[in-house]
Amino acid sequence: MSRVSDLFLGLDVGTQGTKAVLVDAAEGRVVARAGVSYGLIEGLPAGAAEQHPHTWIDAVGRVVGELLAAPGVNAADVRGLGVSGQQHGLVVLDEHDEVVRPAKLWCDTSTAAEARALSREVGRLVPTGFTAPKVRWMARHEPDLWARVRTVMLPHDYVNFRLTGRKCAEAGDASGTGYFDVQRRDYDYGLAAEVDDRLPDLLPPLLGPGEVAGPLNPAGAALLGLSAGIPVATGGGDNMLSAIGSGATRPGVVVVSLGTSGTMFTHCRSPVIDPEGLIAPFCDSIGGWLPLLCVMNLTGVTEEVRAAFAGADGEPADLEQLTQQASLVPAGCDGLMWLPYLQGERVPDLPLASGTLFGIRPGSLRRERLFRAAMEGTSLNLGWGAERLRKLGVRVDEVRLVGGAARNPLWRRILADVLAAPVSCLEEPESAALGGAIQAAWTVRRAAGEELDVHAVAEPFVRPSADVTVPEQEGVELYRALGARFRDAVADTYGASGGGSGPGRLG
Ligand code: XUL
Repeated sequence: MSRVSDLFLGLDVGTQGTKAVLVDAAEGRVVARAGVSYGLIEGLPAGAAEQHPHTWIDAVGRVVGELLAAPGVNAADVRGLGVSGQQHGLVVLDEHDEVVRPAKLWCDTSTAAEARALSREVGRLVPTGFTAPKVRWMARHEPDLWARVRTVMLPHDYVNFRLTGRKCAEAGDASGTGYFDVQRRDYDYGLAAEVDDRLPDLLPPLLGPGEVAGPLNPAGAALLGLSAGIPVATGGGDNMLSAIGSGATRPGVVVVSLGTSGTMFTHCRSPVIDPEGLIAPFCDSIGGWLPLLCVMNLTGVTEEVRAAFAGADGEPADLEQLTQQASLVPAGCDGLMWLPYLQGERVPDLPLASGTLFGIRPGSLRRERLFRAAMEGTSLNLGWGAERLRKLGVRVDEVRLVGGAARNPLWRRILADVLAAPVSCLEEPESAALGGAIQAAWTVRRAAGEELDVHAVAEPFVRPSADVTVPEQEGVELYRALGARFRDAVADTYGASGGGSGPGRLG
């Protein structure tokens, strides 16, 4: 006789694509996965990064269709779902709940002037990537469109709305807006009114952790090919749900996401407030807090080197070969140092900066040296963030890598030494989609009356790799010294204003 199934769906609606996993909660394993890619809207002015919310809804329908077509999967067995979304994006709806304009995204730097003005007005750093400067930008640059807006939402809230018909938000993602009080886990309506006097009335109500956003409505059920009525969990920002899917559900476990851009975050039981505002004081999506460092430049920098040394066929230089060659270059690259701010930077606050190479000598521009310098520069920038986290009293006991470059052994070696902590990766790389499925399983069990910690639900799924890269004393000391040089070089090069909106100050 077949047993009662316990399937949960997790969706991660990201900037480069949407991923989905289906998990069997009884067995603690992923049973199917699928993904589709998409890009940004092309041809926009410099700095603008936008996507149409309909792109996400279309991708969600396609990806779930693919998932449910996997062998042995029965749509009727799916008991709930949870949605992760890229943070900070501005989704605006009119009185008919139609999208008013494409969403400005977390990586949009066209709002740097608004961020600078807001930071001055509220007396603390409001990062360019947050939602608040996007709202201010729209109110100033597109007043007619702004006048039509009746709802301001975040990307995952919009997906939830299209699945349930219910407009709501939750503290994790909402804490990335710039008008949220993380200590009270509620909107800061005063701050919202500073951004724009209409904004406080346009925000969806907040749900508590573990609550149900709503049952899947008939339109959502038709989109996904699932049964109407199954619960949709609150979901959350991608970093919040990645925390659930990578074990950052208890203190000391620090997750580093190595994508084109990247983040470093950890679960805390009380708010962590960085007086300079560089470590984002986010809430998580399970009732705790998630201090987070976001950087715009990670594998984008190494990919730049691969592209620059493409073969005659136009293919980027072979990753494995380049990594192998770069591992023979001495740590520290014989003085070559890359301040890797190709895309501007969130931390330090230099949204309009570009990158700088120092210490060029004969031979420095060989591809393996540049490749290693790219890895070291981006890692030293993360290391500075880890140091700041530690100064704020946050434990960094072990580091788990997720994202595209997590399986690169050289990057693991460099990060173990720079961060002075053991580094592992995870069996399941799609930590945010996995987090969505785990949150859904947790929500359904809580709704059935079980009192349980999300960590207990997550544990069977979160399996760190057996090969852990441990820090080596010599490397730790070398990178500590290079870290100090790196910070001095950033201060000397970009100075107090440094092409950025804020002080770009280094701790
Ligand atoms: C975090 C941030 C990014 C996006 C990526 O503050 O802006 O990590 O969430 O989707």
